[in-house]
Amino acid sequence: MTGIRPGRTGDLSRVLEIQTQSPEAAHWDPVQYLDHYFRVAEVEDQVVAFLVARSVYPGEWEILSLATDPLHRRKGLARGLILELLTSGADAVFLEVRESNSVARKLYKSLKFIEVNIRKHYYPDPTESAIVLKFHSC
Ligand SMILES: CC(C)(COP(=O)(O)OP(=O)(O)OC[C@H]1O[C@@H](n2cnc3c(N)ncnc32)[C@H](O)[C@@H]1OP(=O)(O)O)[C@@H](O)C(=O)NCCC(=O)NCCS
Repeated sequence: MTGIRPGRTGDLSRVLEIQTQSPEAAHWDPVQYLDHYFRVAEVEDQVVAFLVARSVYPGEWEILSLATDPLHRRKGLARGLILELLTSGADAVFLEVRESNSVARKLYKSLKFIEVNIRKHYYPDPTESAIVLKFHSC
């Protein structure tokens, strides 16, 4: 069984594991996620993916982090987490993604996010541009 629910303190060690296995993801201290929109996806009662977003303006959100356990990828979990955010009252959703992260870019493209900006040399280690993406509900 797969389900999406709000993340809680007891999920943080598992979320850190997934984050550690996902070098392309943002690497914040997971305890900060409790202060934001924080959803986890479970398969058979195990947390296998998570999404963190923050409100930047009424109806506007920014995705801060998204990752799926490598053993559970390509099962629609990230798509499900994003759709949950898109259908929970978001008029617009923004995010930044490394230019080289073609997998994530395909995911966002499949959900009709559009590129609105390129921030040159935005990321360190390695230095790389960020593609700024936006989803608008209408
Ligand atoms: C990007 C990531 C979150 C996708 O998670 P996921 O749960 O495997 O994604 P989904 O199964 O929901 O994929 C949805 C769609 O994204 C695209 N996609 C996902 N993985 C893909 C891959 N390996 N190759 C090509 N397209 C892919 C496809 O369009 C896919 O739809 P389809 O399977 O029907 O073709 C996951 O690969 C990950 O954790 N990567 C490392 C962290 C990261 O890059 N986070 C995003 C930072 S902005």
